[in-house]
Amino acid sequence: MSEAAALLRDRLPWVDGKAPDLFAVLGSGLGFLADALEDAVSIPFAEIPGFPAAAVAGHQGRMVAGLLEGRRVLIQAGRFHVYEGHPMAVVVAPVRIAAELGAPVFLVTNAAGGANPRFGPGTLMCIEDHLNLMGQNPLVGAVVPGEPRFPDLSVAYDAELRKLAHATALELGIRLENGVYAAVSGPSYETPAEVRMIGRLGGDAVGMSTVPEVIVARARGMRVLGISLITNPGAGLSRDLLDHEEVLEAGKAAAPRFERLVRGVVAKLEG
Ligand code: HPA
Repeated sequence: MSEAAALLRDRLPWVDGKAPDLFAVLGSGLGFLADALEDAVSIPFAEIPGFPAAAVAGHQGRMVAGLLEGRRVLIQAGRFHVYEGHPMAVVVAPVRIAAELGAPVFLVTNAAGGANPRFGPGTLMCIEDHLNLMGQNPLVGAVVPGEPRFPDLSVAYDAELRKLAHATALELGIRLENGVYAAVSGPSYETPAEVRMIGRLGGDAVGMSTVPEVIVARARGMRVLGISLITNPGAGLSRDLLDHEEVLEAGKAAAPRFERLVRGVVAKLEG
């Protein structure tokens, strides 16, 4: 086990030899769930071996472990983004740690722009597949022990978990769309021509995260559920210019709905 995974294992509240039931990564403006955990134990990124120093990471990232709906949940609050200049190995390090700890399910959330004109701000989208337009893949280089050289991505987003998410949304009266998430490196937002291109390629949402983590999670055999919050129409699909504040505001506005959906899904996971 890596030094980082051993540190987390030793400081988690469920040290009685059990693995987390779920590993979750929370996107921009969606960090509220980390505060909802019971018996939470929090470890700042800066204390985890191999993670960049806080000054480099530039935000208050932390790993939080605790209980949600009776399930053992490990949450990564804050991400390392490709656009911050982090090597891919750093971007995906938390997923590898969660895999080492034995988490069977990976819930990934993000804020994204809508490439599908039907998906306005506030839309929740269950990710059914992705387009990797980042120009990078986290598995390039030497094969990491426990990961295949050529992992299959035919079913990157677990069909059963997607069904569960839709059933839960229906029960709760929450609208949940299906769509394809296109990942770009950023940090500039797209041009209108790029958003049109992504739409023609089959993308419904565009964002700057998630795909590296999902690729590694699949290489480790974790089952993945991804949910995007559409925070703004993609460039060119509205008259408004894009702005990060708007993304964070939309995250805040959707937080209660997002939390109800995630709680509902987590409650239905096998414990
Ligand atoms: N493009 C890329 N990433 C994003 C967007 C967008 O429009 N909105 C939120 N994250």
